Amino acid sequence: MTTALNNQLDTPPIIVIPGDGVGPEVIGEAVATLDAFGLGLSFDVFEHVTAETYLRTGTALSDADFEKVRSSGLVLLGAVGDPRTDRTPYARSVLLRIRFELDLYVNQRPARLLHGRFSPLREGAPRAIDCVVVRENTEGLYTGIGGTLRAGTGDEVALDVEVNTRLGVERVLDHAFGLARRSVCLVDKANAVPNGGRLWQRAWEEVRRRHPDVATFHEYVDAAAMKLVSEPERFDVIVTNNSYGDILSDIAAEVAGGVGTAASANINPRTGAGLFEPIHGTAPDLAGTGRANPVGAVLSAALLLERLGCAAESEALRKGVEDAVLAGRCTPDLGGSLDTGRAGAAIRSAAGLR
Ligand code: IPM
Ligand code: MN
Repeated sequence: MTTALNNQLDTPPIIVIPGDGVGPEVIGEAVATLDAFGLGLSFDVFEHVTAETYLRTGTALSDADFEKVRSSGLVLLGAVGDPRTDRTPYARSVLLRIRFELDLYVNQRPARLLHGRFSPLREGAPRAIDCVVVRENTEGLYTGIGGTLRAGTGDEVALDVEVNTRLGVERVLDHAFGLARRSVCLVDKANAVPNGGRLWQRAWEEVRRRHPDVATFHEYVDAAAMKLVSEPERFDVIVTNNSYGDILSDIAAEVAGGVGTAASANINPRTGAGLFEPIHGTAPDLAGTGRANPVGAVLSAALLLERLGCAAESEALRKGVEDAVLAGRCTPDLGGSLDTGRAGAAIRSAAGLR
C-alpha cells in the first residue's frame, strides 16, 4: 500500500496521550513530525491524562475519553507512569485498558541497530541487529485474573493467572509469520510451564505448516534472553507471550542502540486499530532536562504512518532518523549534543520536511 507523498488522508483525529515524565517532550516531536508531512492529519490531545490527574481525581482516562479513543481507533502515546502510582492501577487504567478494550493483540517492537557504534556490544565484529519482537498483547499474565487470600497475613496467597487461548495464540503467531523476512523464532517456557506451553506448541505446529517457506526455530525464554545478548543478529521475528515479550523487547532495544530509539505498535491487524508508543517509559530522571531522545517516539509515528497506508512517508521518516543520527545530529545518549527539540528538528530536516 504505497501512497504518493503528500496525499491527503481521510482519517479520524488521532488521539494523542503525551502522559508523564518525558512523554510530552518526545510526543511533541512526533506530532510536529507527523504534521510536517502535510497529510491533513488531525489530533485530539488528551493533556489531562496524567498521573497528576489520577492522583487528584482517581481517574485519568474517563469513560467519555475512552469513547473518543474507541471511535478514533488510533492513539499516539508518550508514556504513563509515576513512582507515586507504582502500586495503583494507573498504568492499567490507561495503557492496558486501551490495549485490552481495543483488542490490540499484537505488540510489535522492532529493534534495528542504526550503526555498530551505538550498541553496547560494539566490541568485536560489527553486528547486523535487525529483529522484531511480536508480543502477544491481550492475554498471558496481564489479564488481571487472579486474587489474594488472607492479604497482609503470614498466610497470604496471591494468584495471577496466566491466560492462553487458542484463538489469541494463533492470531499472534499468524501475524508473526506475516512479518518474517528470514525466520520466526517461538519463545516460551514449555519445559517448566506445561499447559500454556503445550497450547502454544500445538498452535505453532499448525501455523508453521501453513508457512512451509518460512524458516523457524524455538528457544526457551532464558536461552532467548542470553542469545539476544550474545548473538542478536541470529534473530528476525521473535514471537512470544505478553510477559516474555515485555522483557525480551527491552533487551532487544538495548542491544540495538538503546531504549531511547525503540518504537512500538500495539495493533489489531484485523480492525486496523492501533496504539503507537516509544517503549522507553517516562524516564523521570530525564524529564524537563531536554535530554530525552525523540527517536523512539518519532519511529512510533513512522509505524503509525505505515498503519495509515503511508508506506513512502514512513520509510522517508525512518531514513531521516538514520541520516540525522549517523550525522551526529541527535541527543547525548547517542553521542550527539542536541536537545530533544533540536534532535526532532534535525530528523525533520533530514527527512526533507520543514
Ligand atoms: C510496556 C510497559 C508496560 C507493560 C507497563 C507500563 C504496564 O512496560 O509497554 O512494555 O508491561 O506492558
Ligand atoms: Mn515494558
